[in-house]
Amino acid sequence: MTTLTDAVVRLNEPKFYHNNPHPVYAQLREEAPLYWYETGGFWVATGYETVQRISKEAEIFSSASGVLITDVLNKVDAVSTMFPEGVENFFITDAPRHGELRGLVGFAFQRKRITGMEQDVDGVIQRYLRKIVPGEPVDVVSNLSVPVPIEVIAAFLDLNELSVEDAFRWSEAVFQMGADMTEEQYKEIGTTLEDMFNFFGGVVADRRLSGSADFVGTLLERELDGSKLVDMMVALYCQTLMVAGNETTRTAISAAIKLFADYPAQYQRLLEDESLIDSAVEEILRFYSPTLGFMRTALSDTELAGQQVASGDKVYMVYGAANRDPAIFERAEEFDIARFRKPFPMHLAFGLGEHMCMGASLARMELRILLKHLRSRYSAITLTGESERINSLLGNGFEKLPARFEAF
Ligand code: HEM
Repeated sequence: MTTLTDAVVRLNEPKFYHNNPHPVYAQLREEAPLYWYETGGFWVATGYETVQRISKEAEIFSSASGVLITDVLNKVDAVSTMFPEGVENFFITDAPRHGELRGLVGFAFQRKRITGMEQDVDGVIQRYLRKIVPGEPVDVVSNLSVPVPIEVIAAFLDLNELSVEDAFRWSEAVFQMGADMTEEQYKEIGTTLEDMFNFFGGVVADRRLSGSADFVGTLLERELDGSKLVDMMVALYCQTLMVAGNETTRTAISAAIKLFADYPAQYQRLLEDESLIDSAVEEILRFYSPTLGFMRTALSDTELAGQQVASGDKVYMVYGAANRDPAIFERAEEFDIARFRKPFPMHLAFGLGEHMCMGASLARMELRILLKHLRSRYSAITLTGESERINSLLGNGFEKLPARFEAF
């Protein structure tokens, strides 16, 4: 008989994710691969193939009624807080409109443009690593994980005026929304987000005047339904990409450091064999899964993982659980940086299907360059104190990660 109840599956509590949720994920995959989570009123999908199917069958599993667990759990409607009425956001749009909206920013993700950023990304990472004094404790989050992806996303969006402090404050507000918050904190978040809207609105107005050919300038020339995009829409594209692109990559950077400190033998392997970098990047993403999960809403009755899902039901995909499914990944609970050397099924940390992450190649590049420099600079990485996690139901990030990097 299953011992699974909502008191065990505490998806509504950030602390559940802080205290190793993997034993519960394993039990879910085994005993209830599609679990009815009464507390939230939605199904929970934990098996790889189930999450894969939900992601791929977007005509059945819709994003249009929202994709965030916090919206469903706490009725905060984070997305509409971020996106005022009349403005469309491709994260929560279905085909065919989704393709049109996503296509408008496709130019920015072209391989040539991303590859062209490589030297700049390398420069940013080296600049922050140079400030770390070998042998002395340092907080990895504030000295590396936060500033690197913010500087990179600022370069991606051609936003010289975006400061690390503001981008950090705004992204934190979005990621912490809906997680154990008081009325007062919600109000504060509202003010913080207003600040963010104003900033991006100002940037777009400025670029319209100057007629620049950068990211914003190019987007201002794009057409939707036969008309050029309005300022508000361009501003919201910028802020979505800014948030989507930095908090997730920040978590992945912290995860890389934490995992190499927790598994020194794997770091040793990386030191000995540079050709493991690409595989190590994928394994960090699989094993750690920076994004906790996303929601879908069924548009028709369907059978899923042996359960009858009714039209209108919500289904939540838990990436961290799918990524450790032993039916797909041999020794799934082991961190093995050589795992992706062989042709393995791809992990689901970037999602799959129509909504699959647009920034995957940029994030991968940041991680690859980070590993390249870690292994050429440091003989070992150790943790010097307790790490602290962020209070979020969206991301698996760190608030603090005290560590020490040893020179050769
Ligand atoms: C390690 C870093 C990252 C992780 C783990 C991650 C994860 C994800 C996941 C799981 C999705 C799927 C959403 C869904 O199915 O509803 C997604 C979508 C997306 N990501 Fe990422 N992401 C990362 C980095 C980035 C970066 C750097 C950017 C931008 C430069 C970005 C932009 C996007 C966008 C625009 C979408 C939405 C696509 C759509 O709805 O069509 N992400 N990401």
